[in-house]
Amino acid sequence: MHNTGCFTMVAVLVLILLLGFAAGCSAPEALPTGVCAGALGTKVEKVMQKDPVILRSDWDPGTPREPAPEIATVTDDWLILVNKTHPLSKEYAPSDMVRIQYCVGDHAESMRYMRPEAAEHFHQMAEAAVQIGYEIGIRTAYRSYAQQYNIFYSYVARDGEEAANKYSARPGQSEHQTGLSADVTSPSVNYEMTTDYGQAPEGIWLAENAHRFGFIIRYPLGKEAITGYQYEPWHVRYVGAEAAAEIYERGITLEEYLGEVE
Ligand code: DAL
Ligand code: ZN
Repeated sequence: MHNTGCFTMVAVLVLILLLGFAAGCSAPEALPTGVCAGALGTKVEKVMQKDPVILRSDWDPGTPREPAPEIATVTDDWLILVNKTHPLSKEYAPSDMVRIQYCVGDHAESMRYMRPEAAEHFHQMAEAAVQIGYEIGIRTAYRSYAQQYNIFYSYVARDGEEAANKYSARPGQSEHQTGLSADVTSPSVNYEMTTDYGQAPEGIWLAENAHRFGFIIRYPLGKEAITGYQYEPWHVRYVGAEAAAEIYERGITLEEYLGEVE
């Protein structure tokens, strides 16, 4: 009798657990295992990671294109394309950058600068966010060729080159070197860079409003094969208000906007 009761209880518990998982409690790829996103209507637990989340998805980067010649001269063309096939030279370094006022984290002082036009618009965007109670700060903006070299090869040492290059650019291939890009974050993701930012209130606001200030989310979800990088809801790029509005409204990437995709 006692044994039968125990068996029934265990069977019921197993059934409840199975139903829980069937109801959507499998951990998304980007989150560490053990995170259950609200199968029972509970609040999604925020899980922070020290490093950018690596989505080990199998998107096909396609056949590598012939690289364009290196860009060596700093330009005020806010539509400058920098990616795996459009590199900057080692020497490309804007000399007119200004200090960003809203920074978070303990990154090097030299990474807290942007080109004046991008910085001014970033400040406007951060101040507009504050008006509705959101804090958006920059972790790193400008990164020199040498800084990107160190960052990229530290990831290569950890994850290998192929995996690292899905979330980190080779030196010369990072648009952080233009002074037009920034990695931003907010309190609700504990100032980390995580794909959770795409669902955080500040990240949602950013995705829906960045274009009003001339910024785009440069590496959107689902566009990995075009941009060459995993989803980065934290990486914004200044392109100017007109291009940003069209890119936002059409749901396209900078590559598509510039006709770089067949
Ligand atoms: N995370 C972006 C791709 C960069 O390293 O520039
Ligand atoms: Zn970035």
